[in-house]
Amino acid sequence: MNKQAQLLRPEIEAKIDALLSQMTLLEKAGQLTQLGPTMLEGVGVDSFLDDPEAMQKVKLDYHEDWIREGVVGSYLGVQGAEKINRLQKIAVEETRLGIPLIFGLDVIHGYRTMFPIPLAEACSWEPDLARRTAEVAAREASAAGLHWTFAPMVDIARDARWGRIAEGAGEDTFLGSAFAAARVQGFQGDDLADPQHVAACAKHYIAYGAAVAGRDYNTVEMAVQTLHDVYLPPFASAADAGAATFMSAFNDLNGVPTSANRYTLTDILRGKLGFNGFVVSDWNSIGELVPHGHAADRKDAGKKALLAGVDMDMVTESYRHDIPELVEAGVIPMSVVDEAVRRVLRVKFLLGLFDRPFRSDAETESAALLRPAHLDLAREAARRSIVLLKNVGGLLPLKQAARKIAVIGPLADSPFDMLGSWSFTGSRRDVVSILGGIQSATEAEVLYARGCDIDDKLPADFAQAIEAASQAEVVIVVVGESAKMSGEAASRMNLGLPGHQEDLLKALKAMGKPLVVVLSNGRPLSIPWIAENADAILETWQLGVQAGPAVADVLFGAYNPGGKLVTSFPYAVGQCPIYYNRTSTGRPATEFWFTSKYIDGPVAPLYPFGFGLSYTTFEYADLEVRKAAGRVTVSATVKNTGAVAGEEVAQLYVGDVVGSRVRPIKELKGFQKLLLAPGESRKLTFELKVADLGFHNVDMQYVVEPGLFKVWVGTNSAEGLAGEFWLDEADVQ
Ligand code: NOJ
Repeated sequence: MNKQAQLLRPEIEAKIDALLSQMTLLEKAGQLTQLGPTMLEGVGVDSFLDDPEAMQKVKLDYHEDWIREGVVGSYLGVQGAEKINRLQKIAVEETRLGIPLIFGLDVIHGYRTMFPIPLAEACSWEPDLARRTAEVAAREASAAGLHWTFAPMVDIARDARWGRIAEGAGEDTFLGSAFAAARVQGFQGDDLADPQHVAACAKHYIAYGAAVAGRDYNTVEMAVQTLHDVYLPPFASAADAGAATFMSAFNDLNGVPTSANRYTLTDILRGKLGFNGFVVSDWNSIGELVPHGHAADRKDAGKKALLAGVDMDMVTESYRHDIPELVEAGVIPMSVVDEAVRRVLRVKFLLGLFDRPFRSDAETESAALLRPAHLDLAREAARRSIVLLKNVGGLLPLKQAARKIAVIGPLADSPFDMLGSWSFTGSRRDVVSILGGIQSATEAEVLYARGCDIDDKLPADFAQAIEAASQAEVVIVVVGESAKMSGEAASRMNLGLPGHQEDLLKALKAMGKPLVVVLSNGRPLSIPWIAENADAILETWQLGVQAGPAVADVLFGAYNPGGKLVTSFPYAVGQCPIYYNRTSTGRPATEFWFTSKYIDGPVAPLYPFGFGLSYTTFEYADLEVRKAAGRVTVSATVKNTGAVAGEEVAQLYVGDVVGSRVRPIKELKGFQKLLLAPGESRKLTFELKVADLGFHNVDMQYVVEPGLFKVWVGTNSAEGLAGEFWLDEADVQ
């Protein structure tokens, strides 16, 4: 039975019927209302971002009287088992029907044990790793009293300017779908009632990542076929994995805001995907239907959102104020309200909240956080997230023989920035910085200089950095973005290193010492100078609490990096959006003047999707393509041709050469990560189902069209052994 169908249980539905029959209209509206505590006095947003523990210091109003009145169904942003239990007690003991509250929070890549940001973790190409980190995040979050996380974010992101690219699995639909399912499985486990797990929330439904020009919250225009073929599958995968909730988004889609879009919320989500959980709006996205120009006022916004299929109102407070009036005036049928309440109560029942409203207590909470096994997993996840982009002459791993190593740069000793943009449940004090990791891993003398700030406006004085580098045999420079430069509302129009970091690198390069650049950032950067001039480059993203040990493991060879990029790195920002699975034009770029290219730079990205090096080398051979009984089997041999063991992500791409709608040049259709000893080779086999080679045609039917298909098996999206196969009419029936 599919996992959405499993959310429907006759005994639970009967209990919901019984409750619904006793509820007043106001109590029903209350179940559809999610509140956040209001900050009474405390910190401004900036200090909150700078100090992950600021949340503990603020004075908050939790609106306890509203719980007593039965007009609150859920909270977001309440932290700690004690506070959660206090509010829950009011709901179950002091309200007329004793319906428990559901508490949600953004537990995106860890609760207290912060793991690598999701974009980084996807570079492992190991969905099971993401399942494991999500499971630990769920364990810590539920020990802190929570029932629900607003994760995973499964938005496809093809534009590096969009800061929220950090929160997802990158640009690819196939890989993104695999990570979506794994993360849902990790958060939810096999049974939502298991108090070690939490309900997941697939977000932001839908197409939020396609904001025009990468500007957050901006308009989205796309063909409905692209919606179904590229942006929907990760959501479908999350639904298939049993995701209990979805979050509607801020953006409009072809003119209709996604928080009031009946086509996407009801026709597709409930109809096509068979979703049986509930949909929560994004933060005030119902209220924002007014500035969007889609609703006249708050009441109109609430009406449109509820009728479209948004079940729970996150903080707008339209539902609790406006639904009773709208129903009494006959504008909204009671059946629509009942259906939304049913969905919310269903998830509460499935979570076991009626039997066990208090999931944890303060003691259980503190014992569950930052356990040694969690930190071990954080280190493992972090090193598996690292991508080696360049390594001239085998400079890495560093030879332990070096006596003096210079570690320079504004991100070398910057614990807070290792936590990424969703860090408010973490603490900088838990982080081992990159400098700290290097110091513990080597006997060499480590000479540290900050060099400059991340985003200095005025030219910095590099004297100390130059002095440190002049004494060292090798220079490691840690540069990139601060944690605040990616994530929500952090779009950038420049994708180079901020401030004077590149000048710092140029000054160090001029010294002629071996130069290792360690990048820490939340999005792909355009870094052609570094690509050309550094001797080695490690993309380390924002790796969480174990950033330092993980980077040191890779720098000194305790771990041979095997990560591969999940987003294309643009050569220049003017290439954005840039992604490997683009459709072909009638004038593919050639030397000829009138072709699809730029007059001042390349068409190709700086680093393609799927790219990543290793301390060893791999060779691909013996591509075979066979077709039989509705399946295409593609096999190839991969050999480790270097001197050390290493992991390789072998990637399978397929291109449908002629289509009734123009098809992507190639699309990822399979991948396998394998560990090979030096000299070892292994035959890999990929099974493709013909039914998976289709797309939505002009009439919006999903079709597999007969004809020629190309296949590639290789080390990234731009290189690989090429073959082909032909599908006849009979194959596609
Ligand atoms: C807004 C963000 O878009 C969403 O991802 C998050 O879950 C909510 N705020 C709640 O914090």
